[in-house]
Amino acid sequence: MKKKSLLIIAVIVGMVTLFVATGIYAGTEVKDEFEMKADYKHKKGIVKFTHKKHNVDYKIGCGDCHHVDKDKDGKPEKLDDLKMGDPVQKCIECHAKPGEIKGKKAKGMKKPQKREYHANAVHDNCIGCHKDYNKKNKTKAAPKSCKKCHPKKKK
Ligand code: HEC
Ligand code: HEC
Ligand code: HEC
Ligand code: HEC
Repeated sequence: MKKKSLLIIAVIVGMVTLFVATGIYAGTEVKDEFEMKADYKHKKGIVKFTHKKHNVDYKIGCGDCHHVDKDKDGKPEKLDDLKMGDPVQKCIECHAKPGEIKGKKAKGMKKPQKREYHANAVHDNCIGCHKDYNKKNKTKAAPKSCKKCHPKKKK
């Protein structure tokens, strides 16, 4: 009996150690608020994103923003069960073309093709939700205009 409970404790300690270790070594850190500044030249002012507020105050689940490659129905697989400390990929790792494509250059392109461009994917996520949210709640609280997100660029 005593031996058995010792064994159980040993197993639990082992599991906790493994969990903490992977949390430290494989996880991705995220600040509560940060500037969105992917590694390419920006034409517009740098956007401040309130990551923690979106998750905690606005009650948005990780999977509404984070996903991995397509599953069988051609949709990305939402990471609803993501936890702080898990490894997370940046949007640009998959939506890998720099900047935004629009106007003449984007003519005839389907949405997923446009979303190969980083800013198109990010805009679809951020502005898409903001539009739906404002409509549903009859408010203007979630910003949709360029200048509400992109501050005036310092010369
Ligand atoms: C409203 C959208 C949104 C929600 C909700 C959200 N995130 Fe994020 N998260 C982002 C964006 C955007 C980034 C920046 C990604 C980039 O720079 O490509 C980010 C970055 C991160 C990063 C850092 C990635 C890196 O390499 O810098 C981690 C870790 C992370 N999120 C974890 C989570 C977890 C865990 C949850 C849920 C508890 C969550 N996020 C909820 C949008 C969101
Ligand atoms: C591991 C690769 C990968 C990462 C990382 C990734 N995406 Fe995607 N994303 C995809 C794929 C594949 C699709 C499906 C093709 C499409 O519809 O554009 C997709 C689709 C989308 C869509 C269309 C919405 C939908 O549900 O169909 C949006 C918006 C989007 N991504 C935004 C983002 C944002 C914002 C980030 C970072 C927070 C991000 N993606 C990170 C691969 C990724
Ligand atoms: C799934 C929904 C959703 C997504 C995705 C989302 N937001 Fe929001 N956002 C909200 C809601 C809800 C509010 C708050 C409205 C209110 O104050 O009642 C908000 C507010 C904001 C605000 C103003 C208040 C603040 O916290 O700064 C900014 C700026 C903002 N979002 C930027 C972004 C950016 C940038 C992205 C994409 C990287 C993004 N949001 C993605 C839902 C979303
Ligand atoms: C909800 C907030 C939000 C709104 C509204 C918004 N953007 Fe963005 N935009 C972003 C974010 C976040 C990025 C990604 C920046 C990064 O991660 O590097 C971005 C990227 C861009 C980029 C590519 C980077 C650069 O500076 O060259 C362009 C161009 C751009 N936006 C133009 C616009 C224009 C024009 C409008 C209005 C029609 C607009 N955006 C509205 C949040 C927003």
